[in-house]
Amino acid sequence: MQILIRDFITGDRIEGYYLIKALNLKTSSNNKKYLDLMLADKSGEVNAKIWDVDQEIEQSYHLGDIIKVRGDVTLWMDQMQLKVIRTRPLEYGEEVDYDSLIPSAPMKGADMLAFIEAKVSALEDIEIKRLLEHVISVNREKLLYYPAAMRNHHAIRGGLLYHLYRMIESGEALCKIYQLNWDLVLAGILLHDIDKLNEMESNELGIVSGYTTDGQLLGHLVTGVVAVDRWCEELSISHEIRRLIQHMILSHHYEPEYGSPKKPHFAEAELLHHLDMIDARIYDIEKATNDLKPGTFSEPIFSLERRRVYRPILEE
Ligand SMILES: [Fe+2]
Ligand SMILES: [Fe+2]
Repeated sequence: MQILIRDFITGDRIEGYYLIKALNLKTSSNNKKYLDLMLADKSGEVNAKIWDVDQEIEQSYHLGDIIKVRGDVTLWMDQMQLKVIRTRPLEYGEEVDYDSLIPSAPMKGADMLAFIEAKVSALEDIEIKRLLEHVISVNREKLLYYPAAMRNHHAIRGGLLYHLYRMIESGEALCKIYQLNWDLVLAGILLHDIDKLNEMESNELGIVSGYTTDGQLLGHLVTGVVAVDRWCEELSISHEIRRLIQHMILSHHYEPEYGSPKKPHFAEAELLHHLDMIDARIYDIEKATNDLKPGTFSEPIFSLERRRVYRPILEE
């Protein structure tokens, strides 16, 4: 029976399907080769070792594969580790419950995209509407599964769309309160991270294997501004709309040390930054507290300035 990684107990022998989220070939101190794996399911990750590998074994494991594993749960330097006894790749036609294996957004990609498209089609500004419809149509396939990050917030299948979905929900409410231009805010939300689609390499399971060269050297703010330039050129969008959206992309990380060469210079850009922060931070807090017992603290969370997050004791 499939046991979730969250429920592993030291000393147990487990058997189940897990996803290879990272793999490295290493050499032990007595000169034997072993595979160092990070196995994952939707509940978490566990380090696993396969000892004494030869070239044939080594070549049969790939990043993003799902494998069947039997192993013993051990403790190594205070960390849970799986000592693999047997593994095999999936056999042709073998049924696997992907939803239990792959950490995914709680909503289906197609539903989130339909929600976003309905918001775009209700816009009043015809230029912004034309631009956003175009961007969605050229990026539709990747949008459906891309995560929003390699490690930080929304590093899950469909994470980018889920990030946009929640920003739209909170952005629409705040826009009404502050009487800001919704068309511009929606454009900022949909385009602020759009070039994450080219910044990271992700497979269809939402697993990121690394940053692209453009991602490393330029980052999604700069390449996003360049992409908007190209789209606006193709669609003959006015200069004012183009530079407003480009400014929103450029300033959404706010601080130069986080990649923004400019701070927000108008209200919609200021709001965009805060919508982004709210969603990223709440996500990280949710993630850190999900598996905590009420009344306890998490480990220090790097993306939250090493804060330890507390799970309040509240009636369900
Ligand atoms: Fe960003
Ligand atoms: Fe973002």
